[in-house]
Amino acid sequence: MYAVQIERLTKIYGSGATEVVALADATFDVAPGELVAILGPSGSGKTTLLTTIGLVTEPTRGRVVLDGELIVDNGWPPGLDLKRVRREKLGFIFQHHNLIPFLTTVENVMIALENNGVSTKEARARSMELLESLGLSQRLDHYPSLLSGGESQRTAIARALANRPRIILADEPTAALDTENGKNVMRLLKALAVENDSAILVVTHDHRMVEGFDRIFEVSDGRIVGERRNGSDNA
Ligand SMILES: Nc1ncnc2c1ncn2[C@@H]1O[C@H](COP(=O)(O)OP(=O)(O)O)[C@@H](O)[C@H]1O
Ligand SMILES: [Mg+2]
Repeated sequence: MYAVQIERLTKIYGSGATEVVALADATFDVAPGELVAILGPSGSGKTTLLTTIGLVTEPTRGRVVLDGELIVDNGWPPGLDLKRVRREKLGFIFQHHNLIPFLTTVENVMIALENNGVSTKEARARSMELLESLGLSQRLDHYPSLLSGGESQRTAIARALANRPRIILADEPTAALDTENGKNVMRLLKALAVENDSAILVVTHDHRMVEGFDRIFEVSDGRIVGERRNGSDNA
């Protein structure tokens, strides 16, 4: 079963003279464990693609099937519990990590688990373990303002992974990082896709960041204009 299937996904903002076709008829499938890059210039529709898959933006037309469950069918069905689906299936990583400034590193991860009904004790244990695996064992009780860019982004990754989502959506996760830290974050995402069998979709406009991806989609003017697959020798 595919982790993500989209079919003719389309988003039109505004109407009449101000109409913008942000996404037009995007169709693809992503398998569990696959690391996919969505590459394109600014304004090409990358964020719209990610947020329509992530149930943040309601598409104008088209379908989204997550983990075999038909979620979106020409718009959001009435009564669909978007929060439930997001919580159960999706993890988000953004360009700006959006850590909560008055919570420590470990608390920023714990909150994702506690929001999902995990007890404080278990949330703390799981958060510590995850942060340690991401090399942050010396930063557990630091506040976000004291973390480097790379450390903040790794904390945000830990938070996105805390509930072991089947699907991880990352919007320019390396844009605020230098090349070295950016490459480390990409290596980490790659390892996670393989280990957890998660589908990971990463939006980027940086061609240098796409090595190691299984597949690369090129987006231009809201359309998917190219698709290439990296051989396993490139991984
Ligand atoms: N909320 C919105 N209202 C109107 N137009 C929007 C909105 N969000 C994005 N757009 C337009 O849709 C197009 C695609 O935007 P976006 O998906 O953010 O592209 P990217 O992430 O590739 O930079 C752009 O022309 C943008 O101006
Ligand atoms: Mg964007």
